[in-house]
Amino acid sequence: MKALTWQGKRSVTVKEVPDPVIQEPTDAIVRITSSAICGSDLHLYEVLGPYMHKDDVLGHEPMGIVEEVGSAVTNLAKGDRVVIPFNISCGHCYMCSQGLQSQCETSQVRAKNSGAALYGYSELYGSIPGGQAEFLRVPFADYGPVKVGQELPDERYLFLSDILPTAWQAVKYADAPAGGTLAVFGLGPVGQFASRVGAYLGQRVIGVDPVPERRGMAARHGVEVLDYAKGIADELREMTEGRGPDAVVDAVGMEAHGSPVAGFAHQALGLLPDKVAQKAMETAGVDRLAVLHTAIDSVRRGGTVSLSGVYGGMASPMPLLTMFDKQIQLRMGQCNVRRWTDELLPLVEDDADPLGVMDLVTHTAGLAEAPELYDKFQKKEDGCIKVVLKP
Ligand SMILES: NC(=O)c1ccc[n+]([C@@H]2O[C@H](COP(=O)([O-])OP(=O)(O)OC[C@H]3O[C@@H](n4cnc5c(N)ncnc54)[C@H](O)[C@@H]3O)[C@@H](O)[C@H]2O)c1
Ligand SMILES: [Zn+2]
Ligand SMILES: [Zn+2]
Repeated sequence: MKALTWQGKRSVTVKEVPDPVIQEPTDAIVRITSSAICGSDLHLYEVLGPYMHKDDVLGHEPMGIVEEVGSAVTNLAKGDRVVIPFNISCGHCYMCSQGLQSQCETSQVRAKNSGAALYGYSELYGSIPGGQAEFLRVPFADYGPVKVGQELPDERYLFLSDILPTAWQAVKYADAPAGGTLAVFGLGPVGQFASRVGAYLGQRVIGVDPVPERRGMAARHGVEVLDYAKGIADELREMTEGRGPDAVVDAVGMEAHGSPVAGFAHQALGLLPDKVAQKAMETAGVDRLAVLHTAIDSVRRGGTVSLSGVYGGMASPMPLLTMFDKQIQLRMGQCNVRRWTDELLPLVEDDADPLGVMDLVTHTAGLAEAPELYDKFQKKEDGCIKVVLKP
C-alpha cells in the first residue's frame, strides 16, 4: 500500500510499504477514507525528529471502512464505518476504567516511560504505524474505533479521532463557569474547536493568534480575537475588569512564536546525532514556554490554565512563585479520546452543526500531495488551517 513516511527533519515522502496484517485476534484492518494532518505531526516533522525512524508511517487522525477483523472481535464487522481515536486503549484496564484512556496500562510504552501508545507518533509512543496510509492495523478493535453512520460526509466525524475531544477536554479541564471568560491561546485546529466549545457552553471566548486567517475563522464563530503581541496579558485584563480570564487554554504547544532563544535551541537539536539530541530534549528542556508563561500571567487569581498544546523537555523552569501566589490550577495531558466521543457524537451529527465541524478544513488532497501540504500547514501559507488527506 501507499503511505506517508517520515524521512528526516521536514522531510516526508509517500512510498510503497507492506500492507498491515492482523497480528492479534483483537485487531482489525481499516481501509482509510480520510486522514487529517495535525499540529502534533508538526512536532515530529520538527523537534521530535530524534525519536523518529526513517520510513515510520505518520498519521493519527484517520477514519475509514473495516476491511477485516481478527477472530476475537465481536463489535465490528467488515463494512462498518469507523473513526479511530489517536490513543490506543484497551477499554478494560484500571486507567481506561477511570476515563484516562491516554494512560492505558495495557498499551503503555513503559520502555520510554510514556502513557498509552499512539498511532504514528515516534518511538516515545510505541512506533506504531499511523493512518496517513491506505490501510491501518487497529489493535483492541472492539473498544477503540467509534462506529458511525453511513450517510454524512467524513468531515462530520473525522475530528472525533483527536482534535474535537482534545478541545472538549481542554475546555472541561479549564472549567470556566457559564457566563465566565475563557481565553484560548492558539487558533490552530485545536484552538478553533476549543473556542467553539467554550462558546457552546455559554462562555465568553477571547482567542489569540498571530495569523490573520485563523483569527478570521474564529471570529466567524462568535469569538473575540486578538493578535499575539507583547502586553497581551494586560490587554486580557483590561477586557475582564482588570482580573484576567477565568480560565486559559494553551492550544499552541512547543512550536510557539515569540521565544527566539528556544527557537535557536530547536535548530541546534536538529543538528545533533539522535541519541545526543534525545538526551538534550529530555534533560535540558528546550521548550518554547513564552505562551505558557503568558497564560499563567493572564489568568485571573484562582483560575485554571489548561494545556492541550504538547510540550517536551523536562528541565524547563516554570514561574512557580507566580503560580503559587495566584493559586492557579494547571491541567494538561493527551486527550482521553474515548472518554468524550459518546457525548460528542450527537453534536457532530446535529444538522445545525453546533461546533462547526464543517467549517475547519481548508485543504483536501490525495496522499500524493501530503508532503507539499505538510510544508504549507507548517508555514501557514495559502490560508492553510486544516488538511484532510483522502488516501
Ligand atoms: N493534548 C492532546 O491530546 C493534543 C491533541 C492534538 C493536538 N495537540 C497539540 O495542540 C497544539 C495545537 O495543535 P493544532 O493542530 O491546533 O496546531 P497548529 O500548530 O496549527 O496550532 C498552533 C497555533 O498556535 C499559534 N501560535 C503560535 N505562536 C503563538 C503565540 N505566541 N500566541 C498565540 N498563538 C500562537 C499558531 O499561529 C497556530 O495557529 C499542538 O501543540 C498539538 O501538538 C494536543
Ligand atoms: Zn492530532
Ligand atoms: Zn486500558
